[in-house]
Amino acid sequence: MAELSLPFESRYFPLKKFFDIYNRSIQEPEAFWAEQARQLDWFKTWDKVLEWEPPFARWFTGAQLNASYNCVDRHVKTWRRSKVAMYWEGEPGDTRVLSYSTLYGAVNRFASVLKNCGVGKGDRVALYLPMIPELPIFMLACGRIGAVHTVVFSGFSAQALADRINDAQVKLLVTADGGFRRGKVVPLKSIADEALTMSPSVERTIVVKRADVPISMKPSRDLWLHDLLDKAAPFVQPEPMASNDPLYILYTSGTTGKPKGVVHGTGGYLVHNYCAYKWAFDLKEESVYWCSADVGWVTGHSSIVYAPLSHGAAIVLYEGAPDYPTIDRWWDIIEKYGVTIFYTSPTAIRMFMGYGEEWVHRHDLSSLELLGSVGEPINTQAWLWFYRHIGGERCPIVDTWWQTETGGIMISPTPGIERLPLKPGSATLPLPGVDADVVDETGKSAPPEERGWLVIKKPWPGMLLSIHGDPERYRQYWSRFPGVYYTGDYAVKDRDGYFWILGRADEVLKIAGHRIGTAELEDAATSHPQVAEAAVASKGDPVKGESIVLFVRLKEGSTPSPGLKNELSEHMRGKIGPIATPDEVYFTTKLPKTRSGKIMRRVLKAVANNTSIGDVTTLEDEASVEEVVKAYQELKKA
Ligand code: WT7
Repeated sequence: MAELSLPFESRYFPLKKFFDIYNRSIQEPEAFWAEQARQLDWFKTWDKVLEWEPPFARWFTGAQLNASYNCVDRHVKTWRRSKVAMYWEGEPGDTRVLSYSTLYGAVNRFASVLKNCGVGKGDRVALYLPMIPELPIFMLACGRIGAVHTVVFSGFSAQALADRINDAQVKLLVTADGGFRRGKVVPLKSIADEALTMSPSVERTIVVKRADVPISMKPSRDLWLHDLLDKAAPFVQPEPMASNDPLYILYTSGTTGKPKGVVHGTGGYLVHNYCAYKWAFDLKEESVYWCSADVGWVTGHSSIVYAPLSHGAAIVLYEGAPDYPTIDRWWDIIEKYGVTIFYTSPTAIRMFMGYGEEWVHRHDLSSLELLGSVGEPINTQAWLWFYRHIGGERCPIVDTWWQTETGGIMISPTPGIERLPLKPGSATLPLPGVDADVVDETGKSAPPEERGWLVIKKPWPGMLLSIHGDPERYRQYWSRFPGVYYTGDYAVKDRDGYFWILGRADEVLKIAGHRIGTAELEDAATSHPQVAEAAVASKGDPVKGESIVLFVRLKEGSTPSPGLKNELSEHMRGKIGPIATPDEVYFTTKLPKTRSGKIMRRVLKAVANNTSIGDVTTLEDEASVEEVVKAYQELKKA
């Protein structure tokens, strides 16, 4: 049992409160989590806090609860019925404010709509929606009746939507006529129509009117939400769900071409998130909390919907582009709603740094008390800019490390427990209950200051239940280092025990914080009729962190041209979405491979970044140095 040691006791203040809680959570995890779990409302309490049959953990077995009950019903029984639940702002400037009682009413009526459409417990519902209040409302409505939602980011293409719908065997799809982005309408319904030609499992589509643009409605399949709401009941009994019943499936990228459906449960997931937002964000009754992520990613699920709403917090939801119609749109929103907690990504911070702080200083951001960062490592410069110009040198920054799979924050400062010294670029220490470590290739703890792999040594409540339809793929998380969870990230622990996350150690990229696998990108590229073979490397990008560089070998008879480059880019956007757009495309006659046929990613990376081979380090490399150098020189020439 690895207790965090306190070598920095003498350098800083002792952090007594944090370590008392942390050490107890590791020594007596079941008693610790049982205590935490009592902060939620349960219909039936648990028989066991944890059943751990590695690698499957089941939290709060025998217990029953309902996610929507915990996010709305329990608040409307108190004075919070008149409290703001959500300040929403559309990109064109339209606004809506929902109190907890109006949110409660909407969740109930949407739940009734789903039931009237034949959706029941365990059925899968896909939500392909812009960032409008209907998205969280539908999530909660699904949870209310025990349906499993799968939110598909509205920037994904028809093909990507269809793949997710098919994998989850979705029965009903909710979409909108369109959503606003940069003053244009994203035609969600027509993209969905195309997806549905490939997705036979979908019986019904509910369409939200948002953009008021003409669309086609397929009789007997497509129904307008507003028509359905006319016949909806005002109250739907929240379904008593077993703690380990799935709440949602969310697709994310791994090391193969096929996205994986991460399945999250109900009880453990909610307990973890409830606690994490108290500890990391010091969420208070009077907080006005804005997480700028898209609900289509896990950050949106946990940090926009389930965590803050289970606390009865006031959240801000904004539909559109961050710098539209003017560069200070976000700062305007913070000022207007008096945001106290602002949670965003390093990519966004770097983009605004590029615009200059004049735009920030036009606004009074003195309401801010705490800032958060997530999704990718934050560089010192961006951290300092965020701290100075957004936080006015007053607000702690919580750099929160977590993943789609972890369900909730794992490593982060915990000002909600005790303020600890921050170091720009470090996510600091694991949250209570999280037994994190950095290990070497044999699985032993790596010495301080040495790079290794980030692992979690014990189950935690928010952890994924499985990968939908593929338990074998789930087992892989626990097999790279037997018995512990492998995160896929490189990290170092410094001499103070602080964690520094260095980025992905596997073939997964982080483009502007969005996770995408090289294999998925390569599959998309090779599906183009003129491509024989494709390989993807990432290149450092000052704003996005990483950008995509595509290497292709064309089929016999095809000739490279700038036109073909554009066509390939378009093709990849069509297969996946704008996040898959390569920044650069190189044509080559030969891709660097090892004898066993594995692509030498190190060579691609060096060429993409125009660095020498020696600058690109990798811990595992099955090719000899001479082979690597030869392949590098050949590719550079080509
Ligand atoms: C990967 C998970 C969880 C919210 C959004 C991302 C990277 C995440 C940090 C951070 C450095 C970070 C890791 C991780 N990452 N947060 N604070 N510092 N890296 O979820 O799409 O599942 O991606 O994002 O590489 O493995 P995701």
